[in-house]
Amino acid sequence: MRLIVPGSSGLSSLDDLDAAGLFRVYATPGPNWVRCNMVTSLDGAATGPDGRSGSINNEADHIVFEVLRASSHVVVVGAGTIRTEAYPPLSVQDSLVDLRRERGLPDILPLVAVSNRGAVPPTLSGCRDGRALLAVPSSATGLDAARADLGPDNVLVCGDDVVDLAALVAALRERGWGQVLTEGGPGLLGSFLAAGQIDELCYTLVPQVVGGEHPRTVGPQAVPAELHLETLVEQDGTIMGRWLVRRR
Ligand SMILES: NC(=O)c1ccc[n+]([C@@H]2O[C@H](COP(=O)([O-])OP(=O)(O)OC[C@H]3O[C@@H](n4cnc5c(N)ncnc54)[C@H](OP(=O)(O)O)[C@@H]3O)[C@@H](O)[C@H]2O)c1
Repeated sequence: MRLIVPGSSGLSSLDDLDAAGLFRVYATPGPNWVRCNMVTSLDGAATGPDGRSGSINNEADHIVFEVLRASSHVVVVGAGTIRTEAYPPLSVQDSLVDLRRERGLPDILPLVAVSNRGAVPPTLSGCRDGRALLAVPSSATGLDAARADLGPDNVLVCGDDVVDLAALVAALRERGWGQVLTEGGPGLLGSFLAAGQIDELCYTLVPQVVGGEHPRTVGPQAVPAELHLETLVEQDGTIMGRWLVRRR
């Protein structure tokens, strides 16, 4: 994987990156940081013909995807994506565990599902060991069932009618989880942007055209945001970049 734009990594452009190099390239500037990682085709599709992002990502995307997870305290994902992509509770890729420990991050990587209804996605149901959490508003119809399913400590009540994402980020920080990664989907990312809670967008641009009608990576709730390029890496024609949100 070639580093094209080194940003503040301290590395040189055209360096060949191994996993340790990628950890440097994707290092965040402070203890509290929220970033989103998404993949898109050249024509802007967030999903392939089967309605999943799994059919547009590729090996290069997968490498960065795992490094981003391994660099985070917690992963936050919309219930829609967890249902569509059948997310199980997460674990860090074996080859990245030592690099993660060197950065003082714990071995466990909790997954927070965000659901306004309070519906526990089937693939997380019954997981009570702290690897699966649900963020819900206080009015969620499924609140009591979710507490019974995941355990009360694993249900985060944030907001009244819809999940308040600023309150969610604050609740995660209270647990010591400052490095927050969200993997979308588009609905949740739009709401995160509207709530002003995103510091960085990590995008993978795959050299593929999907055509047809497919969702974009950012849903309708989003407000316009301006970003600047921090780093760019490339492998086999796939471009992976970090763009930081400009704060006014
Ligand atoms: N290209 C990529 O990188 C990428 C990444 C992720 C997903 N995807 C694709 O995107 C599609 C899913 O899109 P989506 O927009 O439906 O997924 P989503 O954002 O993951 O899920 C939307 C659901 O999240 C819950 N939610 C809770 N609070 C929310 C809030 N503040 N804003 C928005 N949603 C909130 C709601 O669940 P309840 O109904 O339970 O209340 C809502 O129905 C799938 O096809 C998936 O494969 C692509």
